[in-house]
Amino acid sequence: MNLITIDGPSASGKGTVSNLVAKALGWDVLDSGALYRISAYAVQTKDINPEDAQTIAEVVGKLDIKFQEGEVWVDGVEVSDILRQESTGKMASKIAAYPELRAALLDRQRNFIHGVPGLVGDGRDMGTVIFPNAPLKIFLVADVNERANRRYKQLVDKGVVANYDEILADLQRRDDQDMNRAVAPLKPADDAVVIDSSHMGIQDVVDSILKEWAKKST
Ligand code: CDP
Ligand code: CDP
Repeated sequence: MNLITIDGPSASGKGTVSNLVAKALGWDVLDSGALYRISAYAVQTKDINPEDAQTIAEVVGKLDIKFQEGEVWVDGVEVSDILRQESTGKMASKIAAYPELRAALLDRQRNFIHGVPGLVGDGRDMGTVIFPNAPLKIFLVADVNERANRRYKQLVDKGVVANYDEILADLQRRDDQDMNRAVAPLKPADDAVVIDSSHMGIQDVVDSILKEWAKKST
């Protein structure tokens, strides 16, 4: 099975690294965080009570979601920019704790493996819950100060006014919420390879994952 899972906390580099690994192998990417962000977008735009897990799950189950060429479409609307906002990330992390929502997104995520040459699954529970039989599971970590630095740079490069202390506090809050929830908490699978990228460049991380994959597939 051509499948690599890459899980880890916010700003550890999962998205960037997943895309580069997939590109090198000619595979597709499942950006599972986007599905939780889309769910948050639905809560925010459809005036749903954020505490109402059942309604959120029902509404999300019916959304028409399309990923194409770097764009994300929900019910015919292009939403990529809205999804990237920290307010959407915060809401995503809150509602991602609901078992009803996680169940509603389960099959949608597993279906990504069908009809593709291979898949890199990027998220929090790719190796533990969604693809427990994946042949290679990566858990990507980095020091929280380094992650805050990366997020800060990412925003400043885009011309956004950013506050380092706020970013750090948001990351710590989101880590805490994601690691301590009862359902599918952020943690390495027992058979995951843990990579600490605090002092590694992006290409070094990509190369080490490709090396791990080469070991598995020979
Ligand atoms: O998807 P996730 O939130 O885990 O992280 P990301 O958005 O892929 O990466 C956050 C930022 O860190 C990006 O600007 C990357 O270019 C950068 N990065 C880095 O500087 N060094 C690494 N080893 C990995 C990512
Ligand atoms: O880019 P970043 O790492 O900040 O976040 P993301 O991967 O887009 O995920 C947004 C939120 O969705 C996370 O804080 C998690 O609470 C949730 N999530 C999850 O619970 N399970 C996943 N497989 C992916 C994301």
